[in-house]
Amino acid sequence: MVSARFITFMEIYQCTLITTIFPTPTVLAFLITFFTRLIINCRKTPHNMKRDSMIATIYDFPPQEFLVSSTQIPSYGPDEVLVEVKASSINPVDYKLKTSQLPIIRWFFPWNAGRDFAGIVIAKGNNVKKFNIGDEVFGNACGGSLQEYSIARQNEIALKPTKLNFVEAASIGLAGATSLQALKWFKTLTHEDTVLIIGASGGCGGFGVQIAKSYGSKVYGVCSAKNVELVKGFGCDVILDYTNPNFLDDLKDVKFDIIYDTVSSPEDADQEVIFRKYLKGTGKYVAINGARSDMIRGQLGCERQGYHCHLLKWNTEDLNDLRDLVENNLVKIMSIQTFRLTQEDIDRAFGLMASRRTVGKLSFEI
Ligand SMILES: NC(=O)c1ccc[n+]([C@@H]2O[C@H](COP(=O)([O-])OP(=O)(O)OC[C@H]3O[C@@H](n4cnc5c(N)ncnc54)[C@H](OP(=O)(O)O)[C@@H]3O)[C@@H](O)[C@H]2O)c1
Repeated sequence: MVSARFITFMEIYQCTLITTIFPTPTVLAFLITFFTRLIINCRKTPHNMKRDSMIATIYDFPPQEFLVSSTQIPSYGPDEVLVEVKASSINPVDYKLKTSQLPIIRWFFPWNAGRDFAGIVIAKGNNVKKFNIGDEVFGNACGGSLQEYSIARQNEIALKPTKLNFVEAASIGLAGATSLQALKWFKTLTHEDTVLIIGASGGCGGFGVQIAKSYGSKVYGVCSAKNVELVKGFGCDVILDYTNPNFLDDLKDVKFDIIYDTVSSPEDADQEVIFRKYLKGTGKYVAINGARSDMIRGQLGCERQGYHCHLLKWNTEDLNDLRDLVENNLVKIMSIQTFRLTQEDIDRAFGLMASRRTVGKLSFEI
């Protein structure tokens, strides 16, 4: 069995999309296994560590559970850093692994869970020039983040905002960078733009509202009644409470330049059928989930006119921009529920995440 810790979720995701189209999963899985083994052979084990094992959260199939257990401290490649993880947060993508019905996903188990992290660089590969030992960083831990140590690629992390503690910094990377990238996909927003954020109270939606406000745009947000005050706190100009049957009346004379949809997915209701008619003729619809056909088209670069389904591409530049927004008080940290790295807390946090009704971020102090 090949360890999955060196492959990002997005790579698995892209691979599964490709194998959905081409009937060659065995050949593809073989190639991935082969190249992963080649990469593993070039990796370094940290020679100056006093211990060689750590506590980590591993997902396997069976038993189809996230289990807190002891495992080896990961080795790192020439373009990677080894980090001491100080804090981590979870996102819907972390539990979706569990519910995925696609058999090829199982090739990548056992899987070190979690990606969002903040921590300290304790060793680095020969090609790492941008970071030094002792740097406090945040971003994507491609080796898993619900564990004491992990690895991260140098181009998928950035220096932690100084005004944030580790738990706060671990809560911003994935949701913040996704919204930053999605909102600038078609154009740079200005004060002349009117933007609609669907799912404005969620992790991505909350960042979406604040990022669009930082450009001076007029922002409408869709959320449920209980989260109206929260979304107001993000600076949203007009809030549409979808639990009110007449909520669309407020859109009678409104047309949007950008609609950012964080809710539509194969599991949830399709929001595009409700909201697309509120786009200007030149307006664009950007989603971060959606029908499988749209995700596949997104990967193949043949999307529908005026529509984009965005998958996060981790990179230092966007994480730096996110850090600047935080340092300049243009983006506030969401409320955070903090957990410990114990089996009981892992079960509780993933249970909450799966409900799709969490408010703010679920983070772990490691
Ligand atoms: N493509 C990518 O790279 C990428 C990256 C990150 C996330 N995602 C995906 O994007 C989605 C959102 O992620 P997240 O981190 O923001 O999730 P989250 O924080 O768990 O979002 C939960 C929020 O969704 C809202 N919601 C649920 N149904 C709604 C509806 N019908 N209308 C409006 N709001 C609704 C809920 O608010 P109310 O209770 O107020 O309804 C809740 O606050 C997930 O499916 C995730 O997998 C994709």
